[in-house]
Amino acid sequence: MHLFEPFTVRGVTLRNRIAVSPMCQYSSTDGFATDWHLVHLGTRAVGGAGLVMTEAAAVEARGRISPQDLGIWQDGHIEKLAQITHFIAEQGAVPAIQLAHAGRKASTSRPWEGDGVVTPELGGWEDVVAPSAIAFSDSYPQPRALEIPELKGLIQSFVEATKRALAAGFQVVEVHAAHGYLLHEFLSPLSNQRTDDYGGSFENRIRLLKEVVTAVRAQWPERYPLFVRISATDWVEGGWDIEQSIELSRQLAELGVDLIDASSGGVVSGAKIPIGAGYQTSFAERIRKEAGIATSAVGMITSAQQADHILRIGQADLVMLARQLLRDPYWPLMAAVTLRQGTVWPSQYERAKP
Ligand SMILES: Cc1cc2nc3c(=O)[nH]c(=O)nc-3n(C[C@H](O)[C@H](O)[C@H](O)COP(=O)(O)O)c2cc1C
Repeated sequence: MHLFEPFTVRGVTLRNRIAVSPMCQYSSTDGFATDWHLVHLGTRAVGGAGLVMTEAAAVEARGRISPQDLGIWQDGHIEKLAQITHFIAEQGAVPAIQLAHAGRKASTSRPWEGDGVVTPELGGWEDVVAPSAIAFSDSYPQPRALEIPELKGLIQSFVEATKRALAAGFQVVEVHAAHGYLLHEFLSPLSNQRTDDYGGSFENRIRLLKEVVTAVRAQWPERYPLFVRISATDWVEGGWDIEQSIELSRQLAELGVDLIDASSGGVVSGAKIPIGAGYQTSFAERIRKEAGIATSAVGMITSAQQADHILRIGQADLVMLARQLLRDPYWPLMAAVTLRQGTVWPSQYERAKP
């Protein structure tokens, strides 16, 4: 297995094992994709990535992180997304979408406009929901705990979003259950202190994610892959950890999930995270080996040799790059040159090929 070996999962084949990791662009109004998204995602498809995933797309308006997040909670969102998937596919990349709900981290500022709560006067909202009424930090909204009957509605929001993703031409759906957003908040005992069927024991904390995945899988065509992004550890004693992630991944595989995208952190502020090259790849490796499911590795992957090595030693089936692909959208084309792998350059750019 190497970086430029195609990757087939269900009925979809990626031309290589490089994926654009989901990255919020904070460039939408009322959830609508714009020309920014078309150019941003389109450029990375031109740049040679095998999979191009959108940022977190909110399945409910109140499930946006910031008021400028991308959304997929109404049919009106489909048209622009369809233009984007068409362009991505035309460049030979597979279009993917990350479906998300921000939970207690909703209604907060986009990064370049400060930190913390956005009030309704400035486009925020008051109905911020979570497993338990515990704020992420003092500068974040005070959430209310979701009632059990509301969870059905939440699952339905994921299902409706899945239908729209299909209509828009996406070929991969990723459920976002990482980084301290709603589904991760249910998984972690640090944010989930419920005493009903959705809190307490491991089986109860993973219940909502399993219900969402089951409902999404039932809606999503057999031929298309379903990914789930998790935070493999909270990096906090007594929090969610790699052992629970392995058991969860085993159970998700049985429900028809095809790949676990192994990230980490985000559920509490102040966790000490040992950030550095490869700091999360061991999670992808353990889940891949111990849960018997394909994985993707993400986090501080920047060089062609590093990405290739992760695959060659069997830590993951796919690598996801985020910031490096912001620095250089043509990273995959140049990585192929570095690794002496033949790859097809866009005809328009052929004369630039080294
Ligand atoms: C600008 C930006 C926006 C991000 N938005 C998302 C997101 O929408 N969903 C998500 O799961 N991760 C998001 N992330 C995390 C990245 O997908 C990735 O996991 C993280 O940046 C580590 O990878 P890197 O070292 O290659 O940047 C974001 C990261 C950045 C830099």
